[in-house]
Amino acid sequence: MRVWCDRIPYRIPEGPNPEIAEAFTHEKSLGRSLYGFTTLLTSSLPGVRLSSMVSTFFFTKRNETPAATLIEGKEDKSRGFGKSIHVTWQQSEEAIFSAGVQYGARGHIPTPCIFSSPYKLQHPCHPTQPVKIRTQTLAITSTKLAFSLIQSRDFEFSMYSPKVGDRVDTLDTPSMIADLDLVEANIKKLMDKLLPTGLDIRPHLKTTKSAILAGKMVKAGAKGGCVAKVSEAEVIAAAGFDDLFITCEIIGPAKVQRLVELYRKHRKIRIVVDSEAGATAIDEALAKAGIDEPISVLIDLDVGLHRTGVLPGDPAMTLAQHVQGLKHLKLIGLHGYEGHLQHLHDKEDRKSQCLQSMETLTNTADVLRKAGFNIEVVTTGGTGTAEFCATVPGVTELQPGSFIFMDTDYRNAVGTFYSNSLTILSTVLSKQGPRSVTIDSGLKSLTTDSGLAECKDPRYSYGVLGDEHGSLSWEEGTPALSVGDRVEMVPSHIDPTVNLHDFYYAHRGGVIEEIWPVDSRGKVQ
Ligand SMILES: Cc1ncc(COP(=O)(O)O)c(C=O)c1O
Repeated sequence: MRVWCDRIPYRIPEGPNPEIAEAFTHEKSLGRSLYGFTTLLTSSLPGVRLSSMVSTFFFTKRNETPAATLIEGKEDKSRGFGKSIHVTWQQSEEAIFSAGVQYGARGHIPTPCIFSSPYKLQHPCHPTQPVKIRTQTLAITSTKLAFSLIQSRDFEFSMYSPKVGDRVDTLDTPSMIADLDLVEANIKKLMDKLLPTGLDIRPHLKTTKSAILAGKMVKAGAKGGCVAKVSEAEVIAAAGFDDLFITCEIIGPAKVQRLVELYRKHRKIRIVVDSEAGATAIDEALAKAGIDEPISVLIDLDVGLHRTGVLPGDPAMTLAQHVQGLKHLKLIGLHGYEGHLQHLHDKEDRKSQCLQSMETLTNTADVLRKAGFNIEVVTTGGTGTAEFCATVPGVTELQPGSFIFMDTDYRNAVGTFYSNSLTILSTVLSKQGPRSVTIDSGLKSLTTDSGLAECKDPRYSYGVLGDEHGSLSWEEGTPALSVGDRVEMVPSHIDPTVNLHDFYYAHRGGVIEEIWPVDSRGKVQ
């Protein structure tokens, strides 16, 4: 079937496609995609088997109606994540355009190609000029199999498009860069330490917020991942990684409904409950949605953090009985996170307090098992405690997160077994006196809740100068920093710092090897 829309010929896939219907539903969110421009096309391009939506870009002079002719579309499997295609089309006699398009990332919001190397989007006539882009948002209804033009807008886009193979020195700043050798070494160190214990490792993705990194950890031996929030689970699952355990309580009709919709599509999702009201609301919502397969539930136990979780003893028993009575919930285990111990500097103290928490957790698991409840999973642990948790019989799963990148706060507490593998590349903007400069990383690039970030070169001390600025100062005798110099800043608290950035530029020896979107950036609901 061939459809013409605004004089662009596209062929639509044969038969109704639920993903396309889904895309249609998400049309509104497309408008809010990365930089506010996305063209949603659904097509079966010659030579490409496409069953999902595609984002692409149309370059056009303002007010010129695009009349593109598709030349070729090739599937590109080299990225190993989501799906990528390379599309070439002709817009006018002299202009042939070529772009890589990645889709499948960021939930239903296609990730624009310009940010997904190795492709470089270039205006053929004016390679260094900003280009005018006309985007068209098309939607298709699966029932009618018809396109409709929803929006046509012009954007001016600067040509900034870092790509694989570029040197890190060429990145604009502030940029979040990850040293791949160190990231891989951290993953290996964790796996070498913990896999031999036979426990499942379910890394907490509240640190990386990345489906790609979740996949890398699974490749190294992990089993699934944890996320904190439903909205994180939504995007990570939509990006292709759905073996997820949501570790925050899901409370309130809006969130419960989001969980129901997520579970409708992703049956591996696991959740915690710590209240009868919370459990009942989820049960009722699943019943109302006609979803009969019960969702896997872990009882959240307070093992000393006093953040969430029921107390051991009667409260845990009563909640287990309540959950057991709910048709749409399936009790599979106990969750108890000892977050208050992760950063204790004294290792012996950390260990002994952790073992006490683990005793609370495993004793409760035993008591519930004896009372006839199904407690297969006993999950716990963070970067600072996982090795101790792993020694306790009865613990079945560990959920460390920060180890992959670390931060200065963690390093100060637990040492340098795992390396600081992530930094924020920054530029010196201004000289402010003989031993002080201003850099372009302030509160919007580096968090301060766990102390100040550190310059990777310890001779320079950081101070905050506001949202966009920071200072670096040094002792007499230290080489002076000059305007334009680059520095790397080591975050003090990794999870909220990652949440401030759109992409990781992962490099080896200063050459960018991979670019990962921070999929669940800003997903706090
Ligand atoms: C429930 C839960 N599990 C695991 C972790 C991972 O801990 P860390 O990042 O300290 O390794 C966290 C972190 O806050 C958490 O909240």
